[in-house]
Amino acid sequence: MNQDTELRITNAWFNECDLGGRQPMHNHSNSMLSGTFYLRTNDQSHLQFQSPYGMNDFGNLLLDEPNTKRPNRFGYGFQFKTITYKVEAGICLFWPSHIRHGYAENFTPNRLSLSFNFLPITFNNVYKA
Ligand SMILES: [Fe+2]
Repeated sequence: MNQDTELRITNAWFNECDLGGRQPMHNHSNSMLSGTFYLRTNDQSHLQFQSPYGMNDFGNLLLDEPNTKRPNRFGYGFQFKTITYKVEAGICLFWPSHIRHGYAENFTPNRLSLSFNFLPITFNNVYKA
């Protein structure tokens, strides 16, 4: 039995954002893995990810004691509700498609990126594209 999982890009799109624009928190349905390749950024460009834990009645609540705004003694930040990543042109981020992400006010003139979604070509014996 082949244990490899081949993925295919199911859709891709450019995002160009004017100064002051924003991208509300969202996730990507009908996708398993998502990504964004950054093409035009500046030193204020970022992307935020929202923790799936404790954000609704369906997720588990993960807290650290005491609940601080710093990584815990192991360097983990699982208790954070959002994480902010600085992004720069030439890097590519990948994340599970169900994770909510977005950014607040954009301070990058004509911020430009290329985003895409992936689905597996096969998933066990249940699904085949
Ligand atoms: Fe997105």
